[in-house]
Parts: sequence; C-alpha cells; structure tokens
Amino acid sequence: MLLSFFFRIFAEIFQRGAIMKTPFMYGVAADAMHFTDREAETRRLQLNFENGINTIIISPRRWGKTSLVNKVADNMAGNKDCKLVRIDVFSVRTEEDFYQLFATEIIKQTSSRIEEWLTNTRHFLSSLVPVMTPSSDPINPVSLSLKSVGTHYDEEVLNLPERIATEKGIHIVVCIDEFQQIGELANSITFQKKLRSVWQHQHSVSYCLYGSKRHLLMNMFGNRSYPFYKFGDVLFLERIPVAYWQEYVRKRFEQTGKGISDQLVEEIYSYVDGNSSYVQQLCWLVWAHTQKSADAEILAEAKLDLLRQNHALFIEQINSLTSYQLRFVGAILAGKGSEISHKAVIDEFGLGSSANIVTIKQALQKKEIIDIEGKDIRFSDPIFSHWLRLNNHLLII
Ligand SMILES: Nc1ncnc2c1ncn2[C@@H]1O[C@H](COP(=O)(O)OP(=O)(O)O)[C@@H](O)[C@H]1O
Ligand SMILES: [Mg+2]
Repeated sequence: MLLSFFFRIFAEIFQRGAIMKTPFMYGVAADAMHFTDREAETRRLQLNFENGINTIIISPRRWGKTSLVNKVADNMAGNKDCKLVRIDVFSVRTEEDFYQLFATEIIKQTSSRIEEWLTNTRHFLSSLVPVMTPSSDPINPVSLSLKSVGTHYDEEVLNLPERIATEKGIHIVVCIDEFQQIGELANSITFQKKLRSVWQHQHSVSYCLYGSKRHLLMNMFGNRSYPFYKFGDVLFLERIPVAYWQEYVRKRFEQTGKGISDQLVEEIYSYVDGNSSYVQQLCWLVWAHTQKSADAEILAEAKLDLLRQNHALFIEQINSLTSYQLRFVGAILAGKGSEISHKAVIDEFGLGSSANIVTIKQALQKKEIIDIEGKDIRFSDPIFSHWLRLNNHLLII
C-alpha cells in the first residue's frame, strides 16, 4: 500500500520533470501547452459545433487535425448543452468493426460513471450487450466493449447518438478521426449511403469528419456521385504560418536557457515544408544539440539525425514499390512532375505508356507516397524527398 503510494508520487514527479525537459512534442496530438496558432480555425470549428453544422476537415497527415479538434473539445469541456464524442476509426477494417466502435464510444463518452454505461447500454440498445473486462489502467479499472446478439443492429447503432441527445436534451457532436478509412472498406459506397441517409435526418446530432488522403476525401465529399457530397462545411487545414512557429520556438528555447534566431526557425520550417509534426521534431533535435545558442552547424547535424531516424521506414517504403513506381519516383525527384505524361519523359525514365502513368499515379497516391494537386505532383512526406536525394542510388534498378 505504502509502496504503491510512493511509486505513484515518484511517477508523477518523474512525469512532470519529463514535461519540463521536453519543450517540443510530436508523435501524439499537440496538447494545450504545445498548441500554437489555429485561432481562426478553432473559432470556426467551435461555432460549427455549437450551431450543429457538419464539418469536414482535410489536410495532409500530421499537419494538426486531431490537435485542432482536441483543442476545441477542451474549449467546450464546460459546455453542458453540447457534448463532443471523439472516435478514431483508424483500425476499423469492416462495417462490423465500425458499429462496435461507434456504439461503444458513444455510450462511454456520454456516460459519466460505469454504472451509467451499463444502464445506458441496456436502455438504448437491444441488439448489443455490454461485456466488461478488467484493465490495467488505474483510472478505468474496467474496460467496456459491446457484443452483438442480433444481426440487425446497424440502424439502432447509427441512431444511438440522436436518441441519447434527445433524451438528455443536449446536442451531440460526433467527431470521427481518420475518416478516410471508411472510404477504404469493402462496399464502401453502399455503407456511406447508409450512414448519410440516417445521419441527415438527425436534429440533435452533428458530425465532424476528418482525415488525410486528400484525394480520397475530396472524392467522398466533393464529387456529386458520392453519398457524402455537400455533407457539410469543408475546412482545408493549411500550414501554421512561420511567424507563429518563430515565437513558439523562441519561447521554448528561452524557457530552458537557450537561444535560437528567427532566421534559423525559418530554415527549419522550410526544410520540413511547414509540416507541423516535423517542425516540432526538428526543433527538438536542434534543441537537444544546443548548449547555449543554436546555429547553422547544429541545424545541419539535426537534419542528419532526422534523416537517420526515418531511414528504416523510408527503406521499407522503397521496398514496397514496383520498378515502374520507383522510376516514377525518380522522375518526380528530377523535377519532371508537371511533364510526367510527355513522351520524352516517359521514354527517358522508362515509364511504359501514358495509360501506365495513370495506374502508377493512383498506386502511389494510395500508398501516400505522392500528393497530386492539378499538375503539381509532390512527395507527401517532405523528409522523404530529402532522404531520396541522398539515397537516389536506391531508385536505379
Ligand atoms: N496547433 C499546433 N501547434 C503546435 N504543434 C502542432 C499543432 N498541430 C499539430 N502540431 C504538431 O504536429 C503533430 C501532428 O499533429 P496531429 O494533430 O496529430 O496531426 P493530424 O491529425 O493532422 O495527423 C503533433 O504531434 C504536433 O507535434
Ligand atoms: Mg490525426
């Protein structure tokens, strides 16, 4: 007993110490302390949530969608009339997975106590029963999941938030992260039709759907022939402007007795093409190498670290490509993106035919290697292109 008490105290002190020693944060969504800018987006999103407007957020990976929604959720934590439920569908592989996760999270996040989870499940759902398993998490000693006992639970599950909202006299915003995953399911269009047909009749629930894979989401929400066409307000999240980073990074360095110039932060920002996660990661590496004041030499060192940290992952990505795809990547690296369908480029890089180009483009987009905007083809991951330049012998096959 006493031992576990001391252990808890020690763990807490250690954790606080770690936070103070870690001025930058990446890999998980940015929390309040590490959140910068996004003022206009935060306001717009909050206004949409409070007024029941469906919202779609699209941006490349790791620019800050999850962090933004979390920020608005924090802002609205005290609002008793409007409740946010956040669901991450990244691991959803089937419709069945989706219903299970959806029902479980809606029940959990709208109930405050475990007894309430159980009563609500029994009260609102007839085709799913609660299953409780002990968990190692000291805050939630029991984990709850739902098991289906019938076959026709889809409509019941989809109507769940509306029923809870109506009964409690509140508004619910269901935020679904990594929504592109829904577009990847088997029979996705039929599934999307079902979701939309139920959701659009709900009065006390609105939805915030967000994710990466821009081309896929653009199709889902921007194409007339898809079920989610014009479902809501579409917000394209842009890069955080460099000026905000300069202030943020300078403060972080100062708080820890170190210094960095605006010029160097600008170099960091442009090297990572404004990708929020990489700005934090590279700043962290620069900070770690800096004794007193950061300089160009330290930045060069930190860039190499960043490339080294990603090396294994990039090798794996390269290994997953076909010869045609590798040659295509080589052509993009050589700056031929906008002329990729020209015969001269196809011949020079051995890309086969223009029909082949269409297939390669689709495959590379699906693998999230490239992003295409009009004629502009770029690598989705800015560090991948730096790495390729140093390792372009791997593209010669
Ligand atoms: N507003 C922000 N302020 C500071 N850092 C941010 C912000 N948004 C994102 N980041 C950085 O980018 C990383 C990825 O953010 P995340 O919200 O997970 O992106 P996404 O959901 O778009 O993939 C975070 O871990 C953090 O390092
Ligand atoms: Mg995210």
